[in-house]
Amino acid sequence: MLYTYQQLKDLSEKALGNLNLPDEAPALFEPVRYIISAGGKRLRPVLTLMACNLFTDKIDHAVLPAAGFEIFHNFTLVHDDIMDNAPVRRNLPTVHVKWNLNQAVLSGDVMAFIANQCFCHLPPEQFHAAFKIYNQTAMEVCLGQQLDMDFEKLLTVSETEYLRMVELKTAVLLSGCLRTGALLGGAGQKEIGILGNIGISLGLAFQIQDDLLDVYSDPGKFGKARGGDIISGKKTYLLVKAMELATGKMLKTLQLLINDRNHDPEDKIRRVTEIYDSLGIKSLTEKKAEEYISSAIQNLEELNVSYPRKSEIKAFAGSLSGRSI
Ligand code: IPE
Ligand code: IPE
Ligand code: MG
Ligand code: MG
Ligand code: MG
Repeated sequence: MLYTYQQLKDLSEKALGNLNLPDEAPALFEPVRYIISAGGKRLRPVLTLMACNLFTDKIDHAVLPAAGFEIFHNFTLVHDDIMDNAPVRRNLPTVHVKWNLNQAVLSGDVMAFIANQCFCHLPPEQFHAAFKIYNQTAMEVCLGQQLDMDFEKLLTVSETEYLRMVELKTAVLLSGCLRTGALLGGAGQKEIGILGNIGISLGLAFQIQDDLLDVYSDPGKFGKARGGDIISGKKTYLLVKAMELATGKMLKTLQLLINDRNHDPEDKIRRVTEIYDSLGIKSLTEKKAEEYISSAIQNLEELNVSYPRKSEIKAFAGSLSGRSI
């Protein structure tokens, strides 16, 4: 049977709702339940299950690993919000704001281990192969997060450097989900490799859009505070492009604004956004994301899977185009 996006999301939701968390030290698990039940798009578990379903009708054994990827993702969000000094996520106060820093560190840590546990029911051979992908992915996400923080301190970052950072902090996770799902579905190395590449393209598009939405979204809809990247000096696709295209007085102003950590936050967001607007950065960014989505859809053609089976994942990739949440 070919599962729909909604059915896979429901299966993921069910697994996430049935986590058997210990009764002892309830304070540790309160933030875990809080962040997981705050919702989110559940992209990662759905992608894991979609990839599995490309190759088999039997996806039950992949549901827990899929949930594991979502729990790992939620763990990175809890720690990312500390690093990015973010006050709001999924329209709720972030864990370190609602509780405190120590609680966000430890509850985040335990989520990583809960995620690991979601792979342990697999038979030894599958466990080894799946956990290898998952663990390498997790390490790469840390590398990406380090580059993201290192780049805050640099005035300029090239597009190539930016893309490498984004590949690591975001794209490898989507790639790891697709590869793991395919592996658990019984795919061969070639198909797993193609899905890995599709995940990288989708992940690059996804983060470029996230950068865009940080400036140009409706915060109530997007669920995060607007302009956080501008305030923390993040080297987003928008800033990388603006630094590349701005000249003369505009470039000087942009550099001064980005460097000025004491500037009034609202004024800084407004003025940097004005520079983006006058350089046409929004449409350039949209175009770049579109390119990666198209390349993912093109790569799907290479997959040796019958057409109707590919339709859900193709529709899903297309649905990322112009996303607003
Ligand atoms: C946020 O991921 C972190 C990024 C990689 C941009 P999502 O936008 O998938 O967040 P949720 O899970 O839907 O809240
Ligand atoms: C997401 O980067 C990368 C990870 C969480 C690993 P962002 O910092 O842009 O994500 P958001 O915007 O806070 O969700
Ligand atoms: Mg971040
Ligand atoms: Mg962040
Ligand atoms: Mg962001």
